[in-house]
Parts: sequence; C-alpha cells; structure tokens
Amino acid sequence: HDVAIIKVPFGLGGARGGAELGPDELITAGLKREIASLGLNVSKEIRVDCPSESVAPIERNRVKYLSEVSQVSERVCNEVSGAIAGGSFPLVLGGDHSVAIGSLAGLSAHYSNLGVIWFDAHADLNTEERSLSGNMHGMSVAAALGHSAFNLSHIPGAGPFVDPSNLVYIGLRDLDVYEKEQIRALGIKSFTMHDIDRIGIQQVVEQALAVVGEGTDGIHISFDMDCLDPREAPGVGTPVPGGLNYREAHFALELLASTNRVTSMDLVEVNPLFDQNRHTARLGVELIASMLGKRIL
Ligand code: ARG
Ligand code: MN
Ligand code: MN
Ligand code: MN
Repeated sequence: HDVAIIKVPFGLGGARGGAELGPDELITAGLKREIASLGLNVSKEIRVDCPSESVAPIERNRVKYLSEVSQVSERVCNEVSGAIAGGSFPLVLGGDHSVAIGSLAGLSAHYSNLGVIWFDAHADLNTEERSLSGNMHGMSVAAALGHSAFNLSHIPGAGPFVDPSNLVYIGLRDLDVYEKEQIRALGIKSFTMHDIDRIGIQQVVEQALAVVGEGTDGIHISFDMDCLDPREAPGVGTPVPGGLNYREAHFALELLASTNRVTSMDLVEVNPLFDQNRHTARLGVELIASMLGKRIL
C-alpha cells in the first residue's frame, strides 16, 4: 500500500501548547526516509490548515476551542476519507489527540464495522459536561462513540463512528472517575498498565486483536505518545509515570503489523516544547516504521 501522510498541526485541543509542532518535528526526525527505506511509496503529503488562535474568545463553558476542533475535524475527515478512496493507508500526524475525531469520522465513511486500538495513558472518554479540564483531546473517544453534544452534524456520517464493542484500550493509567464509570458501563475492553504487568504485552495484543479483529472490516490504531513512559517519551503534553517501555511499544506494533489487518493510524501528542533532543519525535518515527512493517532481521 501507498501511505498518505496527513499532517495536522493543531494544538488547541491539548492541555498545553506545542502539539501543533508535532507533524513538522516527525518529518524533520526522518519519517519520509524511514517510509522510503521500507520500500513504501508516499502517495501524498497533506498539511491540514489549522487555526492556531481562537477566532472567537475561548469558550469558557466547560469546553475549550470547540469551534476550532470542529473545523479541524471536518478537514481531517475529508483528507482521511480521500486517502482511503485513493487506495492509500492514511497516516495522521498530530497534533493533540482531538485530531482523532476527524480520523474516525473519515474512516467511518469507508468501514461499516471499524475496529479501533487506542494506545493511551488516558481514555479520552470525557464529555463536555463531565470533563474536568475542558480540553478536547480528553473527549475524542466520547465524540467518536456519539456521546458528546458537539455539533458534528456538518461532518459526513455525523457519528457515532465507532461501536464500543469494537474498541480496545492499551496502556491506561490515568482515568477520571467518570471515565472509569463509562468503561464499565459500556464494557469497553481495557488493558491497563496493570494488565500489561500481569500478562505481558504479547498476551495483551493478542487478546486485543481478538476483540478488534472479530467481525470488523478495518483496524485503526490511534497511538497517543503518552502511552509510553515519560522516560522514553518526555515530549508530550500530559505525561504520566509508569507507561510502556521502548520494546513493549515496538513489539505491540510489530505484532499488529504482522497481521496485515491494520488499515490506518494516528500518531499524536508529540510535543517538541517538552522534548529532549528530538527524542520523542524520533521514537515516534521508529514506532510508525514498526507499524508499517519494519523488522529487525
Ligand atoms: N482526562 C484528562 C482530561 O480530560 C486528560 C486527557 C489527556 N488526553 C490526551 N489525549 N493526552 O483532561
Ligand atoms: Mn489521548
Ligand atoms: Mn494521553
Ligand atoms: Mn487526569
């Protein structure tokens, strides 16, 4: 497959600025060289036009930058959908994790039963009513499940974009009370760091695949770099101790790649302002390569 690189330099959904610098940082860290060395072709490289300042004053009623997120979601949706229509593998480079709303919207136009693996320290399951921060990167899953009242009606397909039974979390370790309730109420299969400690990353990925691979017609990986331990990936907006180590993250993606079932990927939350020597962006590039089929031998 050809790869369509969709850069989304958007950070207004995040807790602190800097995620908007992520796409360029990943390119500078050698992403295209890596993709080429895998023998893959980049069919197109798109830069989604993103607002960097609020045009309207920040909406203080619980949800910040709703109109900006909504605008970016629509654009990302169209680019992802166009990439699939053109036969390419959409690779979405964030940006904060709110960019996944647009990815999932665009994917839902092409897959009737999409499986999603959400690698994250966080569940991103808050609604605008229940979020404690108002940051929309903590609401993307809720939006995709159709739990939010955001006005997404202008987005083709208008949600819900994902069925909770086709969604799996890997790497969770920082959940708000409401998010824990939701995970239980919706029965979302969740592999927390406790589960990774207990059964190991290989078992976790195999069990995750059993959920997202069963009866689905595509598998999307939404990879928040904060799923990694901050010692591995310091350059993120919301670091949480106790995350995946270097090999666990690579091994998980290598296993997923070897199934040949993954049809799209987001890699989000690279924040160069908190990085050290471009370490997190370089790791992001390596992880994308593993996902696209890079093997040690
Ligand atoms: N649960 C917190 C919130 O809603 C943190 C979310 C962090 N999300 C992320 N994509 N990094 O604000
Ligand atoms: Mn996230
Ligand atoms: Mn996160
Ligand atoms: Mn928290």
